[in-house]
Amino acid sequence: MKPSHLLAVHEIAAGDVTALLDRADRLKARRRSGGGDRPLAGKTLGLFFEKSSTRTRVSFETAMNQLGGNSLFLSLQDLQLKRGESIADTARVLSRYLDAIVIRTFGHDLLEEWAAAAAIPVINGLTDLHHPCQALGDLMTIRERFGTLKGLKLAYIGDGNNVAHSLIEAAAKTGIEIHLACPKGFEPDPLIVAASRIVAKQTGGTIEIGREPAKAAEDADVLYTDVWISMGQEKQAKAKLKKFKPYQINDTLLSVAKPSAVVMHCLPAHRGMEITADVLDGKQSVIWDQAENRLHIQKAILEWLLG
Ligand code: CP
Ligand code: NVA
Repeated sequence: MKPSHLLAVHEIAAGDVTALLDRADRLKARRRSGGGDRPLAGKTLGLFFEKSSTRTRVSFETAMNQLGGNSLFLSLQDLQLKRGESIADTARVLSRYLDAIVIRTFGHDLLEEWAAAAAIPVINGLTDLHHPCQALGDLMTIRERFGTLKGLKLAYIGDGNNVAHSLIEAAAKTGIEIHLACPKGFEPDPLIVAASRIVAKQTGGTIEIGREPAKAAEDADVLYTDVWISMGQEKQAKAKLKKFKPYQINDTLLSVAKPSAVVMHCLPAHRGMEITADVLDGKQSVIWDQAENRLHIQKAILEWLLG
């Protein structure tokens, strides 16, 4: 059966996750050797973003281009949505022109409104709750490094946010042991954790949530962090910064992980805050591969939804 939308990792069957990773690896290799098919010729992808983006926007537009299709960037400034046209009406109309649409918005309920009314696949380009394309690209990067996912220990240090939620769901699907260290009051959504624990039971994964970065990072294969202040949280910055100070990936924290550990960050990064410049730019960082892999995994996603 064709999937209609990609809103969150938990909605994707485990077999489809593996198929997407395998396809993304092949697409990456083919790109490296200068080849590539154009299976999406004649198709148009819309991108409606209510928040800033470098990676998601550019990688999706480039992905569409490399697959032979076109993309159209739509900002809130330009659409009648700004003047009160409803999401449902906008989604219905855009479905008559476009073949799929990537949405980056605030509440996940807004994304669900788009998906309920659209007759074309809706892809989550980040909401306050989930960032599935990031997590799928992250699985690709981890598997590329270690050759496997099952049984690896991933330590996520910092905010229990959208990126953390999608990583938890991705870890649960693939048997990764994920350990989070979050300040009090900034733990991941308990509903997402509970549902993911049920999935993890079947795959051999585990989900641990604590307060101690060093405990989470001990013997980890992957250290992962994200910004302390997500888009839309600017007003909370002052209060948050104080609480997050001990949750930094630095040389000391890296020294308790396995010597073979890699460091990941979805970017954009703030050197000196959630990660030190030494670690971000150091030899254990796979952060630039991680950013590149967004392109390859999203080509696989586009083929899967539109091909
Ligand atoms: N990681 C990520 O989604 O980056 P952008 O906000 O630049 O798209
Ligand atoms: N948690 C961050 C991720 C940015 C890609 C945010 O939502 O701003």
